[in-house]
Amino acid sequence: MILSGKAKIAGIFGWPIAHSRSPRLHGFWLDRHGIDGTYIPLAVTPENFAAAFRALPALGFRGVNITVPHKEAALARCDTVDAQARRIGAVNTVVVDASGRLIGSNTDAFGFIESVRRSATWDATSGPAVVLGAGGAARAIVVALLDAGVPALRVTNRTRARAESLAAELGGAIQVIDWEDRTEALAGAALVVNTTTLGMQGHEPLALDLARLPTTAVVTDIVYTPLQTPLLRDAAARGNQTVDGLGMLLYQAQPGFEKWFGVRPEVDDALRRFVLEDLC
Ligand code: ATR
Repeated sequence: MILSGKAKIAGIFGWPIAHSRSPRLHGFWLDRHGIDGTYIPLAVTPENFAAAFRALPALGFRGVNITVPHKEAALARCDTVDAQARRIGAVNTVVVDASGRLIGSNTDAFGFIESVRRSATWDATSGPAVVLGAGGAARAIVVALLDAGVPALRVTNRTRARAESLAAELGGAIQVIDWEDRTEALAGAALVVNTTTLGMQGHEPLALDLARLPTTAVVTDIVYTPLQTPLLRDAAARGNQTVDGLGMLLYQAQPGFEKWFGVRPEVDDALRRFVLEDLC
């Protein structure tokens, strides 16, 4: 796409940024919709973050995504941050409004719920959810599940203290469970989410015996390299519905694209294949 002088400009702040899939993903949608616009990787060091971020309105940017390690700094530097992003403690999507104010939100919670709802039959109120892990990704998912209305939430993490502080900060019906007891935590659950790095390429697999998990439960992994983690393979083999981690990446991108470029983009097989080509 050759840009005109009126092109809409967005991008992603990260350090490093070379491995981000977002430019490919947004580039696919820009091409599909023939939009006079661009989405560029912005390699911004932590020292340069504040100056670069506050320069976005002056440069005419429509907005940006924010990735590691800037999500907390973005929250602190936005003019307005919505309530869900505040609870998650991180901003991943910023819109520059008509008066040049930086409006922050977090679309990870939306991306997670949308991915599960589009890929599986799941009713949030049907039973407890189990979250494995208590890092940044877990925070967004815990907020998403509380907001979706799960009746109970069990969080288990290798470092128990991290799960406890997450539960204390977020409130709601969160029960912290010892990592050693994670297998028992699956009893009666309607949803299981792995937010740890276990099962990712180059990491150990997640050791989790699914025997106690009802076969009606949905099992999801936020890891997407590989797409079929050992957890998802085991779950599918015993008849559980499974949702891979790519959907969350794709759906979290939808709201930002719509706000910056004015078109609600579709997540479909063509997009999944295009993003996957680059992962393999
Ligand atoms: P992110 O912000 O992307 O979620 P993170 O903060 O590094 O990343 O969190 C990674 C998660 O994987 C944490 O829950 C971590 O557990 P700790 O809080 O105990 O570190 C979990 N994790 C990583 N390696 C693990 C391992 N070998 N066994 C169990 N949990 C592990």
